[in-house]
Amino acid sequence: MPEAHMFPIKSGSTILILDSGVGGLSIYNKIRILLPDVHYLYCFDNMGFPYGEKTAEFTIDRIVSIITAITNSYSIALAVIACNSASIVTLPALRARFLFPVIGVVPAIKPAVKLSRNSIIGLLATRRTIECSYTHDLVSRFSRECHIEMLASMELVDLVENKLHGFPVSIEKIRVILEPLLSMHNLPDTIVLGCTHFPFITMELKQVLPKGTLFIDSGMAIARRAAWFIENGLSIPISRSENIALCMKSTLKTIKLAPVLRGFGFNTLKILKL
Ligand code: DGL
Repeated sequence: MPEAHMFPIKSGSTILILDSGVGGLSIYNKIRILLPDVHYLYCFDNMGFPYGEKTAEFTIDRIVSIITAITNSYSIALAVIACNSASIVTLPALRARFLFPVIGVVPAIKPAVKLSRNSIIGLLATRRTIECSYTHDLVSRFSRECHIEMLASMELVDLVENKLHGFPVSIEKIRVILEPLLSMHNLPDTIVLGCTHFPFITMELKQVLPKGTLFIDSGMAIARRAAWFIENGLSIPISRSENIALCMKSTLKTIKLAPVLRGFGFNTLKILKL
């Protein structure tokens, strides 16, 4: 994936983090460790969920419209597309369109190849991510060194959404979903969490996969990239204004999610009109 533009941040005081659902919160969680005093917007496109089952055209148009609408009201310094399924198809269009840097998330195959001891890696992601040529290029670049077994699962995404909306996670269901990996002759010793939702079920995945399995996600790498932009730009003023979550429509689910968002520091949930 090409790097984001290398130019200083000249204006803007807000980092925008965007996903279709709760997954981007796993990325925000890491970014706020390195950049605690920045003003954040967390936008979850609950009417576009899930991007992993949409066409590339739909996702590009959708995210361009969302970011355009946000820039009408907020001064954005940096946008993070905190979704693998969206990043792998939208980044070139977004970087051509917006003046601020746009960072995306892609499956952390390279670090997984470095860390795997048995050279067998499992990649968990959405169908869009698994089918995308970008992912296939990544895999073929590293498959000389490792065998990379890809598993697409929308059900795992739904499990995470349900978990953060307060429902229990069925370990048995996870076992069934992971069966293609669990039935391999030699099991992967390293799992790439190629979807930003999945770090929220690492504990549950650990219960199903052999002890000692490594789980790799892209969160900290994205946080370091975001911090790099802020430190190498003209720096973002420390913001005293409150962080805001945005979604497209108020539903029973968003009402249920409000306390969770508050737990992440988003006390206000607003509706974004496209
Ligand atoms: N969080 C998304 C990802 O990283 C999955 C949800 C979606 O398909 O929109 O791929």
